Amino acid sequence: MTPVPTLEWTGGCLRLLDQRLLPFREVFIECRRVDTLAEAIRSLAVRGAPAIGLAAGYGAVLAAMEAPAGPGFLDGCLRGLDLLASTRPTAVNLFFCLDVQRRVLMNSKDRDGAVAALLESALRLHREDLEACAAMGAHGAALVPPNAGILTHCNAGGLATGGLGTALAVVYEAHDRGLVREVFADETRPLLQGARLTAWEMVRAGIPVTVIPDSAAAHLLASGRVDIVVTGADRIARNGDTANKVGTFPLALAARRAGVPFYVAAPRSTLDPATEKGSGIVIENRDPDEVAGFGSARVLAPGAEAWNPAFDVTPVDLIDGFICEAGVFRTPGDIPGAPVDSGP
Ligand code: MRU
Repeated sequence: MTPVPTLEWTGGCLRLLDQRLLPFREVFIECRRVDTLAEAIRSLAVRGAPAIGLAAGYGAVLAAMEAPAGPGFLDGCLRGLDLLASTRPTAVNLFFCLDVQRRVLMNSKDRDGAVAALLESALRLHREDLEACAAMGAHGAALVPPNAGILTHCNAGGLATGGLGTALAVVYEAHDRGLVREVFADETRPLLQGARLTAWEMVRAGIPVTVIPDSAAAHLLASGRVDIVVTGADRIARNGDTANKVGTFPLALAARRAGVPFYVAAPRSTLDPATEKGSGIVIENRDPDEVAGFGSARVLAPGAEAWNPAFDVTPVDLIDGFICEAGVFRTPGDIPGAPVDSGP
């Protein structure tokens, strides 16, 4: 399958497929400055935990390119990294990649050396994510029974990563093995990542996909048409509590009630050893206006308030397993090579 052109370093700039315009327009934006990239992350032109991290990795290269050479170089660069870190609080991959780049920067001798080393590191992070996606696909496909109905939430596909995705890598691989009857994609209010992005990816790959309102998921699960639920993750606490797109927690509850296995697919860079449990995860609250409308139409009764948490936390006891590049594990503590908490 042709890879999704989510993000690409084109020498001097980061080229992003503008996900705000999908599925109807495939437009690329070129980020030559850190502030342009920070705005692209904030506004979801690029989104999905691994993709945000990779974009920030390249953003560190932009920061080094635009910082003045000489004594102000390091401070200038660090300001760029801080700006990128301020864009979205929940996906830990953003901070994982920025930490990697901060260490590379600290070990560099001058501006030219820093630009070269940061670019090499960003490309390595990208390559590793691509490989992790392929490995998750293979490990996860082994869990999919023949003639399966698979339910997923939000978009955890090629658009959200540097490869084929996390949850959707499982779908792609299971489909290649002839195991998939159909995919159900929650539409994912309010920004419709399921209806716009997951459905776009599935149609592009020739995989039968049906979009459902988020509120229909429990009914669908109870009907027996779903054999496995697989979602991505934005941050997995040390005990396994998992933040993902809002609506994932009710999906896990409904799956447990229906006796349908619920798996989280995520690379090791989504593990957060510094956060003990889900209550410690910062949940991004976005502009209430995203809830107040549907597309460009405003639907909220004048005078009513809207609340717009972008993520929720699924308690670990509702998760049947974690699919990562090293295999499938019951808890994050079982995953070999998981990042460790290096303290404050
Ligand atoms: O707000 P978004 O679109 O960035 O949220 C994305 C999700 O919640 C994904 O499920 C998650 O990042 C995993 S992507 C492989």
